[in-house]
Amino acid sequence: MAKRKAAESIGLVPAERLPQHVGIIMDGNGRWAKKRGMPRTMGHVQGAKVFKEISLYCADRGLKAVTFYAFSTENWKRPAEEVDALMIILRDYLVDCLENFRDKNVRVRFLGDIKPLPDSLKDMISEVATSYNDHTGMILNIALNYGSRAEIVRCVKDIAQKVKDGALDVNDITEQTVSDGLYTAGQPELDFIIRPSGEYRLSNFLMWQAAYAEFWYSDILWPDFTVNDLERAFCDYDKRNRRFGGI
Ligand code: IPE
Ligand code: IPE
Ligand code: MG
Repeated sequence: MAKRKAAESIGLVPAERLPQHVGIIMDGNGRWAKKRGMPRTMGHVQGAKVFKEISLYCADRGLKAVTFYAFSTENWKRPAEEVDALMIILRDYLVDCLENFRDKNVRVRFLGDIKPLPDSLKDMISEVATSYNDHTGMILNIALNYGSRAEIVRCVKDIAQKVKDGALDVNDITEQTVSDGLYTAGQPELDFIIRPSGEYRLSNFLMWQAAYAEFWYSDILWPDFTVNDLERAFCDYDKRNRRFGGI
């Protein structure tokens, strides 16, 4: 109670009213760089700094889970130089992560198919994923070579295989069976999606999980996004009336 009063007195939404699981579509890096006459990759470098700041802040703020969209299954369409630069920047972020998340009790999970990623990035992914196995705090999901459609297809194939093997009866397939077959299995429901950069679309992000998530859009480009913007989003979330189909 005292903690809640303290948070409210400085204008912060108290921890127990925050969304449990927040999804963040980190968008606008390229436009941020272009506005400054810089190559798009500089936008990704700045975007990675913000990624670090916001992920650490989310852990301090007591969120249960946060999912950052870092690279989509469609982002391979970009020029090879940009993709290569992004892979290096992501790897550097993970190296940094190893230091920063050690004291934060954060668990790091990767959503997506990591097989096509470069070896140096895959090595870091396994190191980061195993280093924090004993952690019990916030789940930090990094969606990397992630696409919601690919995730659902993978889940459907697993279910079909189980039915074929006689391990599962078709009549026993429920919504829970599907949820349990996704990368986010066992995690808190996605409550809130934040998309900066003025785009109003999901871009293949957590479509199943987003069924009743609240959205928050802003024209701010991701490299300019700050903890104050995040707090503003939380204030808006706190005012929403979530009915889940009821009245
Ligand atoms: C988000 O910024 C980063 C990734 C998609 C990897 P963009 O690179 O999409 O930036 P804009 O949208 O072109 O400005
Ligand atoms: C979504 O951003 C993917 C990530 C942020 C990783 P995009 O920039 O790829 O999305 P579109 O192309 O504008 O829909
Ligand atoms: Mg974009």
